[in-house]
Amino acid sequence: MGNLHISWLLLTQSLLLVTRISASVVPAVVVFGDSSVDAGNNNQIPTILRSNFEPYGRDFSGGKPTGRFSNGRVPTDFISQALGLKPFVPAYLDPSYNISDFATGVTFASAGTGYDTATSDVLSVIPLWKQLEYYKEYQNKLRLYLGGIKANEIINGALHVTSMGTNDFLENYYTYPGRSSQYSIQQYQDFLIGIAGNFIKQLYHLGARKISLGGLPPMGCLPLERTTNVMGGNDCIADYNNVALEFNGKLKGLTTTLSKELPGIKLVFSNPYYIFLHMIRRPSFYGFEVTSVACCATGTFEMGYACNRNNMFTCTDASKYIFWDSFHPTEKANHIISDYVMNNVLAQFR
Ligand SMILES: *[C@@H]1O[C@H](CO)[C@@H](O)[C@H](O)[C@H]1NC(C)=O
Repeated sequence: MGNLHISWLLLTQSLLLVTRISASVVPAVVVFGDSSVDAGNNNQIPTILRSNFEPYGRDFSGGKPTGRFSNGRVPTDFISQALGLKPFVPAYLDPSYNISDFATGVTFASAGTGYDTATSDVLSVIPLWKQLEYYKEYQNKLRLYLGGIKANEIINGALHVTSMGTNDFLENYYTYPGRSSQYSIQQYQDFLIGIAGNFIKQLYHLGARKISLGGLPPMGCLPLERTTNVMGGNDCIADYNNVALEFNGKLKGLTTTLSKELPGIKLVFSNPYYIFLHMIRRPSFYGFEVTSVACCATGTFEMGYACNRNNMFTCTDASKYIFWDSFHPTEKANHIISDYVMNNVLAQFR
């Protein structure tokens, strides 16, 4: 009787454990966005915005320049690993992967893109609407590969991650007169928020339930922007940081609104701003030594083709730098940001 009681207890406990694990597990990571989370999609399209050559990827597995804009992995690679999935998220257009790989993770991101199609037009990269088309195609492939029931389970349980917006401001609004003659900066933010909201709704209608909406970094502190801030002693451009803060506030508001509007959605705002700024203000706390210029080349303006193996100024130890090229963090900085977001926001999806 006593033994029976104990084994019954063990059985119910292990059943509870199994249910808890299977209910909370994330079977896949699905990514949309820009160079912060591109893993090589731009290699497959006719754009000059590429990074599939050395020294990009020199600290990636096998030293491979995959098309990630870093010396190593990007944040969604670390997030995938932290969720118990692959240690990297492959690019949808990369011919070396297929649907069996993409069943646990895929990125549709394209360097240089933004919420605004006018932004993706600047360097002929993949606009957000096209990323969504690829996602629909992916869902169809997944259903053919695994059957409808299993595929829908994956889509429902997958963590959908978005990371974009910086290019809408820096590559588009503040560089070309089109949008800035049409909209005030506040109006442009609201225009982008409208696009972000529609995008989330479309993901929801396609079956996505777990979504992380990524915020902007302190974009006035990117080395390329600091380089242009000659009058300000090459410090961070405060105006750009303030726009990032303002826009992040609106993204956060959007997650609150949509969480009420869309039943069953788990929509969270992942904010990299403060951890990023903390790294820049207190580099020694993280073991960084250089914050204002990047590792690659002179560190002041080079990215893409200007950051290449012929440049003798490239640093030898990227882990002392927050920035790899003039616009993108090092793998180490990406890792710190990902851990922070994982522990503070995304842990609920584990
Ligand atoms: C995917 O690629 C792997 C290895 O290249 C291969 O073994 C597998 O059959 C492919 N799967 C599909 C569904 O095409």
